[in-house]
Amino acid sequence: MNYDKYLKLCREKYKTDMGLEILPSLNDFYDDPVVRVPIESFSDTYMESILAVKDRIKKHFDENPNSPMAEYPDIFDFETELLNISNELVGWLESERYGCHLYVDKIYIYRTYPLEERVSSYIWHYDNNPEEVVKNIIYLTDVTEKNSPFEYLMDKNGRGVLFESTRRGTEMWKPVANNSRLVEEVKHLFANGYTSKKVVGSIGTTTSFNNDAGHRVNPILEGYRDVINIRVKPTLKKAPKYIGKKYTTGFEVSGAVNQNPELSWSELV
Ligand SMILES: [Fe+2]
Repeated sequence: MNYDKYLKLCREKYKTDMGLEILPSLNDFYDDPVVRVPIESFSDTYMESILAVKDRIKKHFDENPNSPMAEYPDIFDFETELLNISNELVGWLESERYGCHLYVDKIYIYRTYPLEERVSSYIWHYDNNPEEVVKNIIYLTDVTEKNSPFEYLMDKNGRGVLFESTRRGTEMWKPVANNSRLVEEVKHLFANGYTSKKVVGSIGTTTSFNNDAGHRVNPILEGYRDVINIRVKPTLKKAPKYIGKKYTTGFEVSGAVNQNPELSWSELV
């Protein structure tokens, strides 16, 4: 089964489980692939949890720099706070974006650096996991144009631009040319009226983006930038917690999701 079909099954299950009559539009899910998360509607626990971890993360990266990107080694150092953050964020994604149960399969905590030449995710790209996988980037410091704003491609309607993944599930799982970097494509889009947007904002600013939206990170010009990136996947069965040691990993495990969408958290515990 491919992930698009699995998402539809998950939406039906969620609708029944939650006793809902209407779900958020699937068209919006795909056609508006980068959205600002309205954290002002979340409980105070969200920002309190961000404030509780930011200095510990800063200290780690100050002591362990690693250009072009420094990676935090053990996300479970912050289990309580990450659970609090996910309870707000993932709950919102379920009811307002996906219309299905979700779990967190990946959390990346990292710091960006100054660079003379762009490499890896500093180059325009899409992640090329199935289009039903969404990442959520949370700023742990105030971010301006100068300290590494997340940037995404924008169409003429001001919406993010989704690229077709070659990895969709058990019925289609192919490698992609050039590691899904978008050098020529972006030149063509910019020549045809497309633009890009750099997301600036104060600490806690959260951007939810489909992993196949064209995006890049910018090098540091001044200051520093640490982030938490929380990746979610649909699941038919509601997980006991959004995050768990058996099914949520960090940099220690490959970023490719399982080819089979039906292998969700419950098959890993
Ligand atoms: Fe990426």
